[in-house]
Amino acid sequence: MTALNNDIFIRALLKQPVDRTPVWMMRQAGRYLPEYRKLREQAGSFLNLCTNPELACEATMQPLRRFDFDAAILFSDILTIPDAMGLGLYFTEGEGPRFKYPVKTAADIKKLPIPDPDIDLRYVVDAVRLIRKTLQGSVPLIGFSGSPWTLATYMVEGGSSKSFQKVKGLMYEQPKLLHAMLDKLAQSVAAYLNAQIEAGAQAVMLFDTWGGMLTSEDYIEFSLYYAKQIKALLKTDVDGQQIPTILFTKGGGLWLEAMTDAGYDALGLDWQTDLQKARARVGDQVALQGNMDPVALYAQPEIISEKVKTVLQKYGSGSGHVFNLGHGILPDINPDHVKAMVDAVHKYSPAYHQ
Ligand code: CP3
Repeated sequence: MTALNNDIFIRALLKQPVDRTPVWMMRQAGRYLPEYRKLREQAGSFLNLCTNPELACEATMQPLRRFDFDAAILFSDILTIPDAMGLGLYFTEGEGPRFKYPVKTAADIKKLPIPDPDIDLRYVVDAVRLIRKTLQGSVPLIGFSGSPWTLATYMVEGGSSKSFQKVKGLMYEQPKLLHAMLDKLAQSVAAYLNAQIEAGAQAVMLFDTWGGMLTSEDYIEFSLYYAKQIKALLKTDVDGQQIPTILFTKGGGLWLEAMTDAGYDALGLDWQTDLQKARARVGDQVALQGNMDPVALYAQPEIISEKVKTVLQKYGSGSGHVFNLGHGILPDINPDHVKAMVDAVHKYSPAYHQ
């Protein structure tokens, strides 16, 4: 396959020298882009975009035409796995994702299948292949999955939640049952990520969006344990090229030392976590990705530029930092403000790599 023209994202994740800090953005393809809104309207729905490889490829490419990002991320969703398990994913305007058949009983858990990605999630594997071809080596492609715990929250709650009563109820009252479900999810996620890697994903990221809702001991037992299992099952390289891995736990700032032991090459940080202290805590063990406050993108470009400088300064000199937001971009951000962020990373980061 084509060699990469720009590999600074991969290099930074592996803590190899780079001449500036790489930058990309969680949810970089999405509603803040007018061309995305148009594409979604043509497609009829978000899920149509995800399940049609040509449209998913187009959505992936859109932000790269506007901004000098150093990585592309597969356009898809974390809820493809539960959908492939038969839960019937749908989206309602304003309410977010929902499942027709949420997991309610022990029998529901017992009958959950482990999807075969090449059959049941074929549209994702095909999208990865097509995107990789379309990128022509310009920047690396990131594949991703939700973490078992985060997927379980949606599967048991039936959609988004604030207090996570149902899934935590299951955790407190029938922990073995939840473990049985998480175990199936871990096997499914590992197979799914390996299929993405085989199809051409050059790095993979595990989104543990709701790990931070757990107590410290429950985080270790119900979330991190499975992230670690998945990492151990992942393909580590393709054609001699290492496939770096990123673990992002929103609200995980308290547990960085434990997360470091899970074996990922990099940890994603949310905006509440102090990047300077985080670096001191993890030492040379992992790279760090993040962590500008997504809400800072509402500010004027001059202020955004200052906020970028602060993040760069917090990480300090040397490789091992990937610039990103601390969570996904919000849908009503002005795209010009994203350009201000990317330009500032390009302008101010070389000083940290001399
Ligand atoms: O980062 C990227 O650009 C890649 C694409 C991506 C999407 N979802 C596209 C999307 C990724 C990596 C995700 C992951 C995802 N999906 C997560 C974990 C990441 C995180 O934010 O921590 C979660 C929790 C989901 C589930 C999900 N999908 C939610 C909560 C929503 C929002 C619903 C809403 O109406 O706001 C989605 C929909 C979704 N996923 C959109 C996009 C671009 C918006 C769809 C649209 O309305 O066009």
